[in-house]
Amino acid sequence: MQKFVITGGNRLGGEIELQGCKNSALPIMAAAVLVQGKCILESCPNLTDVYSAARIINSLGCKCSVAGKIAEIDASAVSGSAIPEKLMGEMRSSIMFVGAILGRTGQCTFSIPGGCELGPRPIDMHLAAFSKLGAEISENGGEITCRLPKGRGHGSKISLSFPSVGATENIILCSVLAEGETVVNNAAREPEICDMCRFLRACGAKIKGDGESRIVIEGVEKLHGCEYCIMPDRIAGATYLAMTAAAGGAMILKNACIAEMEPFISVLEQTGCYICTADNRIYLRRGGRLKAIRDRIRTMPHPGFPTDAQAVLMAALAAADGTSVFEENIFDCRYRHTDALIKMGADIQVMGKAAVIRGVKGLHGADVEATDLRGGAAMAVAALGAEGTTSIGCINHIDRGYEKFEDNITSLGGRISRV
Ligand code: UD1
Repeated sequence: MQKFVITGGNRLGGEIELQGCKNSALPIMAAAVLVQGKCILESCPNLTDVYSAARIINSLGCKCSVAGKIAEIDASAVSGSAIPEKLMGEMRSSIMFVGAILGRTGQCTFSIPGGCELGPRPIDMHLAAFSKLGAEISENGGEITCRLPKGRGHGSKISLSFPSVGATENIILCSVLAEGETVVNNAAREPEICDMCRFLRACGAKIKGDGESRIVIEGVEKLHGCEYCIMPDRIAGATYLAMTAAAGGAMILKNACIAEMEPFISVLEQTGCYICTADNRIYLRRGGRLKAIRDRIRTMPHPGFPTDAQAVLMAALAAADGTSVFEENIFDCRYRHTDALIKMGADIQVMGKAAVIRGVKGLHGADVEATDLRGGAAMAVAALGAEGTTSIGCINHIDRGYEKFEDNITSLGGRISRV
């Protein structure tokens, strides 16, 4: 198993180009299964999760190749409707393929996506929505089959009890080829959902209201291929900004999605970092010590503070002046990175949903293990600001979501190697 070895203590400086977004690349790849034609995706990040998605697409008899930043998907000849159990277990986002396969072929067999990274992540809302769209659902020994008796779903009104990102995406995927109109109330408003809808519209889908809490989908008979450029990754962007905030110095993030990153930037600014945005660039400079954030940082659905940026900001605040408090409202078990930060000298107390971070003078290196994708990235943020050397194990978690992680850190002047 590979590790990252990071020696902290020096200021960062330089510029990096932001990668394409993992959380929209995956649903867009799933959406391409709905299309009778070839789709070319630009700015597709090179990540293990993207390769897993490609394997799912190929297992369905479709063609998917990823080379450089381009993914080519041709689902003209889809022949399968089952997601192999092994692929289902590799990545939780495999659930996104269910709506697409069901919408395209009228049936999908799959197993529960495995793992317990952030606490229980049920799929009840996804299944209830498929059922409203006309699917019959059966379970046999852990294998679930959704089947549309008429081969095609029918439009429906669906009100989500919570604005789930994945459920919103799956409803859209399952309804773009359904008969009639589907309305999603209390839909999630994350920018990645809008990115997937822009892609689907470019293929001929009729979707309105994405980015708002009421989305209307009018089913069409068929979708056609297109060329589409995936949006930049706001969470990877937040991670690199947090690194410079933790280590000090100045950086420019190029190809940034500024409006989508605003909920993170507006909080990060309160640490005393100077942040300036223009065109699609973000400049960040940290001169003196970081300041704690006075107001509780509450993770909320977009446009609230993103849960995916909670860990990386916490890592920077661990060595700020004063006390910051987080409130995690999206996932039950999203403080697993705190033990590693404590091992590096942080003073963090977790009490249910809340985590109290009393800023210390400085962190020190330690041997730690990535607990999950963003938690692992948070350890790298802390390591860059810490004195001494940190070894981070289980970096397969980090490789799921960050493209050229060590190259980007090296080009900012950070000392990191993969061993
Ligand atoms: C997506 C993101 C993930 C991000 C999360 C919240 C992708 C690939 N992943 O995950 O990075 O952290 O949004 O912004 O885009 N829930 C249920 N039942 C369901 C579905 C969800 O109870 O059927 C709960 C979840 O357990 C969680 C909450 O709803 O507590 C939000 O989950 P959801 O928005 O669905 O997250 P994901 O789509 O899994």
